[in-house]
Amino acid sequence: MKIFIDTANIDMIKEINSWGILDGVTTNPSLIAKEKTDLRTCVKKISEIVDGPISAEAVSMTAEEMVKEGRELSAIHENINVKLPMCTEALKATKALSSEGIDVNMTLIFSPHQALLAAKAGARYVSPFVGRLDDIGQNGTEMLSQIVAVFRNYDFDTEIIAASIRHPMHALDAALLGADIATIPYDVLKKMVLHPKTDEGIKFFLADHEKSKKK
Ligand code: E4P
Repeated sequence: MKIFIDTANIDMIKEINSWGILDGVTTNPSLIAKEKTDLRTCVKKISEIVDGPISAEAVSMTAEEMVKEGRELSAIHENINVKLPMCTEALKATKALSSEGIDVNMTLIFSPHQALLAAKAGARYVSPFVGRLDDIGQNGTEMLSQIVAVFRNYDFDTEIIAASIRHPMHALDAALLGADIATIPYDVLKKMVLHPKTDEGIKFFLADHEKSKKK
């Protein structure tokens, strides 16, 4: 499974990239707003740090405007793909952009039906939002597993990005189900490194090493 970070924070991206495990980055308008920057400046900076796909979200609401905005965003750097929110206008724009060789990440996916239509329109990625479905008492992981099953049935090229990941178990579920990618927030990535028995083990090994030096 490829690991993307879901943030627009440059320091966090630099830190996680330094671990050697980072395959790409996703942003959205809310993440950009948190950093008090603008989308274009931000994704350009990210493209100088990370050598992998970077999602930049369009905010247009008609197919024609989405195509125009998508072309502008993808022109910033070859690794940039255009995030479009699932709707009929975005399906039309996806068809047009993908036929020009511009990658689309169809976002705000909450059902396998939406994911199927996005793949049919030529989306390079679909982003099912696991956590936000859990938030309203539905089963985000079940939705993800249905999308994985549908895409496997038809061998779609579209990659599944498990999104709206809230905790390490969501990341594990994505990996167990065979999602192509999980886009994971910084704090969840940090939690994935840790295990109390690892910390305890390091402490004991260092203490024993000190003891053996004294012999
Ligand atoms: C996906 O690309 C989105 O940016 C993201 O995963 C949304 O997650 P949230 O529900 O934590 O806002």
